[in-house]
Amino acid sequence: MCGIIGYIGDKNCSDILLQGLSKLEYRGYDSAGIAILNNNNITRLKTEGKLQGLYAKVYLEKPEGTIGIGHTRWATHGAPTTINAHPHSAGKFTIIHNGIIENYKELKSYLQKEGAIFSTETDSEIIAHLLDLNSKNLTFEEAVVKTISKLEGAFAVLVLFEEAEKIVAFKQHSPMVIGVGSGEMFVASDIPALLEYTKRFIFMNDGELAILEKNSFNLYDFSLNSKEYKIETLNISPLMAEKGNYKHFMLKEIFEQNRSISDTFRGRVLNGGEKLDLDTSELNDFFKNSLKRVIITACGTSWHAGLVGKYLIEHLARVPVEVDYASEYRYRSPIVDENSLIIAISQSGETADTLFSIKMAKEMGAKVLSICNVFQSSIPRSSDAVLYTYAGPEIGVASTKAFTTQLAVIIMLAIHLKECKTGELDVKLLKELLSIPEKIDGILQNSELILELAQKYHHFRDFLFLGRGLNFPIALEGALKLKEISYIHAEGYPSGEMKHGPIALVDEDMPTIIMATKNNQYEKVLSNLQEIRARSGKVIAIATEGNNSIKEFCDDIFFVPESSALLEPFFTVIPLQLFAYYVADIKGTDVDQPRNLAKCVTVE
Ligand code: M6R
Repeated sequence: MCGIIGYIGDKNCSDILLQGLSKLEYRGYDSAGIAILNNNNITRLKTEGKLQGLYAKVYLEKPEGTIGIGHTRWATHGAPTTINAHPHSAGKFTIIHNGIIENYKELKSYLQKEGAIFSTETDSEIIAHLLDLNSKNLTFEEAVVKTISKLEGAFAVLVLFEEAEKIVAFKQHSPMVIGVGSGEMFVASDIPALLEYTKRFIFMNDGELAILEKNSFNLYDFSLNSKEYKIETLNISPLMAEKGNYKHFMLKEIFEQNRSISDTFRGRVLNGGEKLDLDTSELNDFFKNSLKRVIITACGTSWHAGLVGKYLIEHLARVPVEVDYASEYRYRSPIVDENSLIIAISQSGETADTLFSIKMAKEMGAKVLSICNVFQSSIPRSSDAVLYTYAGPEIGVASTKAFTTQLAVIIMLAIHLKECKTGELDVKLLKELLSIPEKIDGILQNSELILELAQKYHHFRDFLFLGRGLNFPIALEGALKLKEISYIHAEGYPSGEMKHGPIALVDEDMPTIIMATKNNQYEKVLSNLQEIRARSGKVIAIATEGNNSIKEFCDDIFFVPESSALLEPFFTVIPLQLFAYYVADIKGTDVDQPRNLAKCVTVE
């Protein structure tokens, strides 16, 4: 939940560290700090709050040096204060840490008995003290190895030592990628921090330790045995992680959805929709001969994509599907066997609950397929096969383009599973997929109408979101978007469930946004809509283009293009994303970095 970066080379590194941290701020933004090694001396600068505070400090103090580390924090242990901000030091060692040291209390009392004096409330500070204690009679590297052997939990750590011109990096259950430059080396939590400097990366595995020097680096296991590594070249433009002319990343990401969905179909939906080539060759025999059950695990918005997946896979492939919150799945003795497929959905590929759920299911004999947006992140690397969503870097904490590209992968997977099970390719539906990007573009061109709705409704304190069938997960998603960035209370419900409780909430102060598209449940939704109006509730309907007769039943209306019912979620979600965005912007909240949240949740 924190972002880390390190640099070693010839350049004065404070700018590189700050620039990298600005790309990692989505991971945590309650405090930040850097440490720079120069002439056997380490300078630390730290501030609470957003990165701007650190910029100001660096500008005033102008620290010199070409070896440094930087950290942006999302507090777990200890309040987000300057003192608790990383880096932490003990003796000649300075460290930054992303993750949680689960046994820190035992280690802290052990270290205190040995004379260590702690200055922070964090779990991370124990790493610096362990290094200091372990360094008596040991080399720098040996002290690191001995320290790692004491740690339990999740950690990606960078270490500076006053007497060595190197950075030591090690990781277990928290992400870390090395960027290979020419005469300089980088290391960070995620590639957007490094895209400006290199396109060559080594994705570190759990249990690995890297020693970075200006002109070289070496990879080891936690016993200091050398390890082989693979350098991967990624052609991702740094511009993809820039805001461009948009006011916020979230808005840019909403407007990118036609492109990101096209990219996700590219190379998979072929010959104008006559052929589907899904890169799951490792699992195709399993799909054909053994698959009896699908279990989808995910969190947040990705879980909503999983709910859409249940409808699609059951409808098309006729395989039973369960959808579980990954955090619940792990702890409820689930029933899994070798005929089960676990589908893990995750934008970041690092969500701790989702990662642990697939590790557990794998141990119980299930096959694991992940749907992920971040190349080579932990979840794909722990899966039997992966289907990447090509959304590009998603920086706004509220997930938008990642969600619709997850839907794009899921609909292709459902069509593929049907083909594996029945030998029949649904060419009609496959062809229709290719029309999705253009239709989304059409909705986005009407974004001003959503802005007008946001201006009209932003002052309400509670909202109800309703949908049936495939639009029920979209109601949940609309409510989540509004909650997380505008801090307005919102509830998502299946429309038919309304009369079993939520209708008691309906009055003139609680508007309802209802998915009322023309599908086989339309008449029932229309009844729900009238029930709300009969109780003085205001209704905004998301309806199918051309259905003018719905106007008499609602206060406001936004039209989405006509489509096969199976594809409606691609379209109904877009106005809800825009509505949440505009309401939040009008209220003046921090849209891209809403309070208390982080983009990537690597703690349980
Ligand atoms: O990276 P993941 O998809 O695994 O993240 C899961 C959730 O943390 C994420 O979707 C979260 O709910 C978003 N903030 C929603 O906008």
